[in-house]
Amino acid sequence: MRFVLPVAVVVLWSVAPAGAQQFPAGPGKDILEMKCGVCHSPEQAVAGGGRTAAEWRDVVREMIDSGAEVTGDEEGTLIDYLAKNWPLKQPDAALSVTGIATQQQAPISADEVTLRHKIYGDGHVTIFLLDIPPGQATLLHRHDRDMLSVFVNGGRTRAVFNGAAPVDDTFTPGDVRFRSAGFTHSTENTGTDRFLSVIFEFVDSQGPRASASRPATHICNPGSQTACVDEKPLFCTSKFCVDDLMMAPHAVRPADGAANDRILVAVSDYTLLEEIPGTSAAVHTRKSGEIEPMAGGPARRWTNADDPAHLIVVTVR
Ligand code: HEC
Repeated sequence: MRFVLPVAVVVLWSVAPAGAQQFPAGPGKDILEMKCGVCHSPEQAVAGGGRTAAEWRDVVREMIDSGAEVTGDEEGTLIDYLAKNWPLKQPDAALSVTGIATQQQAPISADEVTLRHKIYGDGHVTIFLLDIPPGQATLLHRHDRDMLSVFVNGGRTRAVFNGAAPVDDTFTPGDVRFRSAGFTHSTENTGTDRFLSVIFEFVDSQGPRASASRPATHICNPGSQTACVDEKPLFCTSKFCVDDLMMAPHAVRPADGAANDRILVAVSDYTLLEEIPGTSAAVHTRKSGEIEPMAGGPARRWTNADDPAHLIVVTVR
């Protein structure tokens, strides 16, 4: 035993460099320190404060999608460790940010957020456009439903989640986030332009976030290097998948056999000529921030007009 102890101390030193935070002991501590400290410090991973187990699961899956090398075996251990040691805390008024500081303590329902406007609804989903002018913030509100956000024009925000310390965030146009129900937040627009987000609120639980199964594709018109269509599967849940679709001017997206319902979100303005074999061609036009529901069924071929088109496509599974 005499020899074992010093060895253990040496190993500990090499894992936790001087100045690093001592994380609570328990299964999962090593995974946090080793696997979550590759791109940012492991302290950074927990700096945002408490989350529900479902939210930690979303974060961990998001990080795996971004390249965190957490194995299937480690994933559950890590989520349990995070949820146990950094659980959801109730909102704490003392931690409010400037601009959100004067808000009432009790969160309102997401339905009461005045900066968002309903743009679509059916039996499964309600879609809103959230439009926050520069310097303004939503009231602290509660999300009781699973939610998908498409950030239309990018920008900068400062957000408070579940009463944790404020988090600054930067978005590029077309960024997509999924969050499971059961969190409270407020978002302040710290950028110089309007902050626009298309928000899907699902009636039913959508299941956990999962990695996309298809590879990205890059298809160019015959003989062209530039008239190309880039399709990048982002992620799925049990109920839907999300793809990022970029079409260069005049690019043709060959007919697909999509049998499933889709909702297109216009990140840029778009004008697409749609051809369905056996019917006459139709032109689909949307402005940035608008959406277009598209019933599944026939194979459709799309030809882009003169400007680059950027869409997010949400396909029901
Ligand atoms: C491959 C690089 C990489 C690894 C490995 C990684 N992260 Fe991250 N993480 C990022 C980047 C980039 C961001 C900032 C972008 C963002 O917020 O989406 C981030 C942000 C975060 C955030 C703040 C996001 C939010 O929504 O508030 C948390 C929490 C987080 N990481 C946790 C983790 C955990 C836990 C692990 C270990 C499983 C991990 N990270 C491993 C790249 C990584």
